[in-house]
Amino acid sequence: MSTVTEYLKNNQDRFLEELVDFLKIPSISADSAYKDEVNKAADWLIGKMNQLDMDRVEKFPTAGHPIVYAEKMVGADKPTILVYGHYDVQPPDPLNLWNSPPFEPVIKDGNIYARGACDDKGQVYMHVKAIEILQSQGPLPCNVKFIIEGEEEVGSDHLGDFVREHKGMLSADIILISDTSMIANDTPSITAGLRGLSYLEVAVTGPNRDLHSGVYGGAIDNPINVLCEMIASLKDEDGRITIPGFYDKVEELSRTQREELGKRPFDYEAYKRDLGVADTNGEAGYSPMERASIRPTLDVNGIWGGYIGEGAKTVLPSSAHAKISMRLVPNQISAEITELFQVHFTKLAPASVKVQVMPHHGGEAAVVSTEAAGYRAAARAMETTFGKVPIPTREGGSIPIVALFKEVLGLETVLMGFGLNSDAIHSPNEHYGIFNFYKGIETIPYFHQYFAEMAGT
Ligand code: BES
Ligand code: MN
Ligand code: MN
Repeated sequence: MSTVTEYLKNNQDRFLEELVDFLKIPSISADSAYKDEVNKAADWLIGKMNQLDMDRVEKFPTAGHPIVYAEKMVGADKPTILVYGHYDVQPPDPLNLWNSPPFEPVIKDGNIYARGACDDKGQVYMHVKAIEILQSQGPLPCNVKFIIEGEEEVGSDHLGDFVREHKGMLSADIILISDTSMIANDTPSITAGLRGLSYLEVAVTGPNRDLHSGVYGGAIDNPINVLCEMIASLKDEDGRITIPGFYDKVEELSRTQREELGKRPFDYEAYKRDLGVADTNGEAGYSPMERASIRPTLDVNGIWGGYIGEGAKTVLPSSAHAKISMRLVPNQISAEITELFQVHFTKLAPASVKVQVMPHHGGEAAVVSTEAAGYRAAARAMETTFGKVPIPTREGGSIPIVALFKEVLGLETVLMGFGLNSDAIHSPNEHYGIFNFYKGIETIPYFHQYFAEMAGT
């Protein structure tokens, strides 16, 4: 299939220019001020799908942002690949830390810099171009369906119902997603597991108004102090979460499984250097890699209250707030963990304050079998284009719809991502390697070819 490489070479500049166009649309799903822009990104994608030879291209409105659907059926005897991705992006804040504006893509040092470059517009677009390449060679080896949503970064609120209502339309043999990372450009890997998530917001309220911190300080409990103590007590000195029942269902990996996963290359010194930290901490008995992938954890994502303006104001605030996430591992159930948190956190509070716990979104962890046809086809595809057998990894991020696809459609997922952890997704200066973009476009057609050969084996 060397003609794949040839077609890619002859069209690579245009592919990149098209991606630049896509990245210029500020499709920030979290911010209602950008609703029209999110819709514009959906329309842009529809336009590109229409330029392929598809049987059906459709924008499905939801109560939130629209879902883009497209399909090409080449034969009832052929397996069907359902490609999932998202065209929405995270807010670009803090803007002042970007070296160039987030929605004015810049190509520099082998990367394309823009919000969404890697997560997930760049990776979604590889699949669109892979179909263009495959169709330039003849009929597709597999049927293909695309479901590209605009609400992934805000918890995929309307995707669950959509999938349940369109089971027939979405019937397939495998889900294929590029929305994860690999170890390094010379060390391909395939994600065999993701963590789940439970996300909530808490509020601690004390006195009925802000007080003078001299007049009342020392006698009246300060909600910020109380909140900090409550949060601090959620982990013990071994870095274990203290919520009763939190670990009850945690999947414990065998020594062999841990050894197997531990074989992946990991440069601890480079890891610390990259992040500018002198040391790392976490749950006792686990390596940094394990702490960020196969173990559950709890983090404060934001905390506020009191005076944060310029200069000093002596004030004992009336309330304090925090956003807290728990990353979960297989067998933990997001709704149950949210409930355990709620009960425990409420009990923790002294009588001097009131506590509110407001659940946001959640999602379940996912594990992918490395024995399944999908994984094997992906491994062979990557081996073909990288010249190395990819390593199965477990990652710390979450894609809750993987568990949902399994539950509703009964389908396995292949997580063949081409990003790098250094791509700064969700951070200022997000970027995606031009190498990775093209490598993805080159690899995906092989997946289609090998999956057609392997499905049913
Ligand atoms: N693509 C990421 C998830 C990811 C990133 C998985 C890197 C593995 C490696 C996705 O867009 C994301 O950010 N997911 C959210 C969860 C969602 C419910 C908001 C996350 O992980 O925080
Ligand atoms: Mn993503
Ligand atoms: Mn994301």
